[in-house]
Amino acid sequence: MTSTTATKITLTVMPAGTAYEAESGITLLEALSRNGVMKHECDNGGKICLNLCHVSVLEGRKSLSKVQRTENERLDQIVGVGSKSRLACQAVLGEEAVTIELPTL
Ligand code: FES
Repeated sequence: MTSTTATKITLTVMPAGTAYEAESGITLLEALSRNGVMKHECDNGGKICLNLCHVSVLEGRKSLSKVQRTENERLDQIVGVGSKSRLACQAVLGEEAVTIELPTL
C-alpha cells in the first residue's frame, strides 16, 4: 500500500496579507474554504458556472496546475480578467507558496 503525503505550503491572501497553511494537491478553492476565506462552489455540477471563485495569482503561479480548456473558456466570460486570473476551483496547489488577491466586489 502506498501513501502520499501532502506538502504544507503557505497561502497568502491579499490585500490583507494574511498567511494560511494549505496542502499541496487540493484546489485553491478547497484551501480557501478550509481556512474560512472563500466559500463558493457551483452547485449544479458545473453546467452553469457563476465564476465567483475568480482570483488573481500574484506569486507562485507556476506551482499551480495548468489552466485547462474549460477554465480558459470560463475565464473568457469574466470581465476584468488578466494574465494572473485563475478560477480557484480549477487551480490545484503545487509544492510552492502561493500569493493570491481576492477581487474587490
Ligand atoms: S466554483 Fe464555479 S467557477 Fe469555480
